[in-house]
Amino acid sequence: MASAEAIHLAGGPKIAMRYGRLDAESVPAEGFLPDAHPPFHGEKDAAAHLRRVFGRMGFGDREIVALSGAHTLGRAFAERSGATSSGYGKKGTEFTSNPKHVARGDGKAGFGMAGGQAWTEKWLSFDNSYFTQARPGLNHDSGKGSLWLPSDDALKTDPSFRTFYDQYAASQERFFADYADAHRQLSELGSQWAVPGGIVLDFDVAGYRAQLSKCRGDLRAFIDAENCNPILVRLAWHDSGTFDAFRRTGGANGSIRLKGELKHGANAGLSKAVGYLRDFKKKYPMISWADLMQMASAESIHLAGGPEIPMRYGRVDADFSPAEGNLPDAHPPFHGEKDAATHLRCIFYRMGFGDREIVALSGAHTLGRAFAERSGATSSGYGKKGTEFTSNPKHVARGDGKAGFGMAGGQAWTEKWLSFDNSYFTQARSGLNHDSGKGSLWLPSDDALKTDPSFRAFYELYAASKEAFFLDYADAHRQLSELGSRWVVEGGITIPTSKL
Ligand code: HEM
Repeated sequence: MASAEAIHLAGGPKIAMRYGRLDAESVPAEGFLPDAHPPFHGEKDAAAHLRRVFGRMGFGDREIVALSGAHTLGRAFAERSGATSSGYGKKGTEFTSNPKHVARGDGKAGFGMAGGQAWTEKWLSFDNSYFTQARPGLNHDSGKGSLWLPSDDALKTDPSFRTFYDQYAASQERFFADYADAHRQLSELGSQWAVPGGIVLDFDVAGYRAQLSKCRGDLRAFIDAENCNPILVRLAWHDSGTFDAFRRTGGANGSIRLKGELKHGANAGLSKAVGYLRDFKKKYPMISWADLMQMASAESIHLAGGPEIPMRYGRVDADFSPAEGNLPDAHPPFHGEKDAATHLRCIFYRMGFGDREIVALSGAHTLGRAFAERSGATSSGYGKKGTEFTSNPKHVARGDGKAGFGMAGGQAWTEKWLSFDNSYFTQARSGLNHDSGKGSLWLPSDDALKTDPSFRAFYELYAASKEAFFLDYADAHRQLSELGSRWVVEGGITIPTSKL
């Protein structure tokens, strides 16, 4: 940061920096940095030496010349590198020891400690003068004028280097563009990041916000037309629900878009939901997958009559998936746990949730269906193989009375399974119902919420009060949507609410 800011402050280009580097505790062996003078580690000349040293870092000729242009700034000292005979204080040149000389580009006087020999006259100004000043020859022991070392001279004499040297002498813009890119690469060599993708400070928050707002409008229209609210809610939940608070793995990081994770047994059927969002990702490329999924879910709930969830955005996508097996099962053997309640606690406590959130979040089953072909949690399948609530085209599943429910089939928990209300807690439950092909679904994991005494307290609260359910649901959903998320800007990005 200090380096990039120093360049920008001196009039140089703005460098697209990322932060979040992890510090190393070990020291590399000596001898990796380039020399300015022979014997160049035994290489035949300065050009060969530069190529070997920079090539090892992954750089090519263009970057060697561009990065060398950083010598537009600064000096060499006899007492440090010994690359010049000019030393500290008065032992410098007319550009470094004369207090009247102005080295800054903005015309301000002063240059800290005096002395040394600089490559350029204005050696506190970042411009392309390293490439434009007249170079009568090597100049490192005259104690006068500007410095020019064998390693600098190679950039003028080697034919390949020279093409870039001439380009930069002719165009400061060209130099700045190549320099900024090479410097960014240099600043990231071998860096390990605390956060996947690093942390970007100069993130275009206003641009991101604008895309989020537009995307929200498009998503609303799409969801309303497709009636795909439930699958979008399930997609976001399955992205978040892998979170392991102890190991700090998984979470709302968009990794469910990756083919390997979509193939996890629990995610059967969800590639359809990722497919729905692909066009939105193309249209709004700034928006991360993680944000897109979470936005689609929160909007799906709100559109279906559910609470407005106070969302934050700016999640960074992960490029790797957690191991399989982090999501809850609806049926025994519950990963070997003694019953459904223990299993649910095991899974949701791992995410950092308590009993209240387990019951509130399960209330999301007020929306949607299970399919024989996906989870297999019901015998009801696609199309006509559903129930009177899912396969009868005359049945109205939306809360606003509009007809239509997208693809037919499956078995739903509630009659109005495209309406978000507290009916998951209020409908009469005569017992488990997942293989009758009739009526509403009720699985062992749902039943635990009624039978376990601690869960039951919340179950009854939500059955008695839709307001209490909405309040707790919105809060738990917000937490769920942020599990393990890494943010491009601290605190995330919010957008103003907008009426449906
Ligand atoms: C408590 C543990 C949970 C279990 C065991 C569970 C299990 C299931 C199962 C088996 C399905 C059927 C999938 C299919 O066949 O397509 C399903 C669907 C669904 N789940 Fe859950 N779930 C749980 C928690 C949640 C949570 C926390 C949410 C959201 C906050 C959620 C939202 C949904 C939605 C919306 C659907 C319907 C998807 C559709 O219609 O396509 N579930 N769940």
